[in-house]
Amino acid sequence: MQNTVNQSIMPVTTKINNNGHLEIGGCDVVELAETYGTPLYVFDEETVRKCCQQYKEAFSSYSNVSTLFASKAFMTQAICAILKDEGFGLDVVSGGEIYTASSANFPMNRCYFNGNNKSSEELELALETGIGRITVDNFFEIDLLNSIAQSKNIQVDVILRITPGIECHTHEYIQTGHLDSKFGFDLTQVDEAIELIKERCPNLNLKGLHGHIGSQIFETYVYADLVEVIVAEFARIRDKFGITLEEMNLGGGLGVQYISEDDPPSIYEIAEVILTALRQNLVKYELPEPKIVVEPGRSIVSNAGVTLYTVGSSKQVPEGKKYVAVDGGMADNPRPAMYQAKYYGVVANKANEEAAETVTIAGRYCESGDILINDAELPETEPGDIICIYCTGAYNYSMSSNYNRVPRPAGIIVHDGQSDVIIKRETYQDLISLDVIPERLKKNNCHLV
Ligand code: LLP
Repeated sequence: MQNTVNQSIMPVTTKINNNGHLEIGGCDVVELAETYGTPLYVFDEETVRKCCQQYKEAFSSYSNVSTLFASKAFMTQAICAILKDEGFGLDVVSGGEIYTASSANFPMNRCYFNGNNKSSEELELALETGIGRITVDNFFEIDLLNSIAQSKNIQVDVILRITPGIECHTHEYIQTGHLDSKFGFDLTQVDEAIELIKERCPNLNLKGLHGHIGSQIFETYVYADLVEVIVAEFARIRDKFGITLEEMNLGGGLGVQYISEDDPPSIYEIAEVILTALRQNLVKYELPEPKIVVEPGRSIVSNAGVTLYTVGSSKQVPEGKKYVAVDGGMADNPRPAMYQAKYYGVVANKANEEAAETVTIAGRYCESGDILINDAELPETEPGDIICIYCTGAYNYSMSSNYNRVPRPAGIIVHDGQSDVIIKRETYQDLISLDVIPERLKKNNCHLV
């Protein structure tokens, strides 16, 4: 089967140009660093679009599929514009994500609102924007949503999030489908949730079930298991309540290649496993074809993004490691410190040079754990070199912080030799823009800029 975007570390347009520099999206990466400064998030539009198209194609043999992007992986107005164009919907999980999508004129009926503790304000905002579905997570939320819908005198389409009891071998922080999980209804609670909706919630229309089993998944069979659990629930619900559910949402989770040892399945393989299991189980339980929804996040944007850093100081520990420090680190990419995530990096201005040393690429933040890559094989580095770390498009910007009061990097998109800012670089002024000094503390010792 053909390879897909999630199976390679680099954006699809990556090259080395005649200057021996790395090139992405037709742009010389070293020139991008000069123009926009570093650290810099760079997104390759072609990679994102190609990945979206591969998802569409992979599921094209089934007539009723919705593909959503889990926007928690990377959310800005520009990515909304691209996904809208590619016919995707969004999985949103907060008022902020809803606001961003609606401010970008995203078709809100293509959005699903997920989360284990949505506030009344967030639910109201979701309904006001005309959101497509709410994925209801718990009993408290069923009552809350119904009372909000009643007060607005509207009907709301909901799906129930269940905990399917499937374990996959990913990092324990990003597993969600096993039984002891904070998300969703345990399978033993589904009937009670349906009774509650049927009997006491006239403003909620139950459309289907949702199951998400985790993230950065390399095993394909877990998706067949998930389909089987959900179809069996559909049959049980039909038999017990006489309700034929119309829709199953299988969450996201497909893994990507961060380093050469990673071997994720292709998008086509995952789709085939899902569709085969679906067809078999629909026959087994004599059910009509439901709409299926998938909501990948990481696999859509991860390999499209790289981060550029400038090398500054370095330190050779006597008879120990060599540390090469860059101008970013754990605040723009918290994943190595949080999940021991591994990345691959190159020196963008020495892209043709052979590796000459093994170094530890250290961040600039005040914490010993702020290491981006251990044991990177690089050509000899010197201050001013540009290091490009691959596969930083997912869960980097969206999980970034201002730790040490460092402004967040800018983000740009590259396409056919053109580059455009999609996220402005934060300034010191931005950092203090939300600070307030109470009058009683002002006295005369504060110098205000
Ligand atoms: N749907 C639901 C309900 C989810 O909870 C998630 C991710 C997704 C879809 C998208 O999953 P993906 O295709 O991206 O694997 N911060 C972590 C990842 C947390 C994922 C949380 N849920 C990381 O940096 O690895």
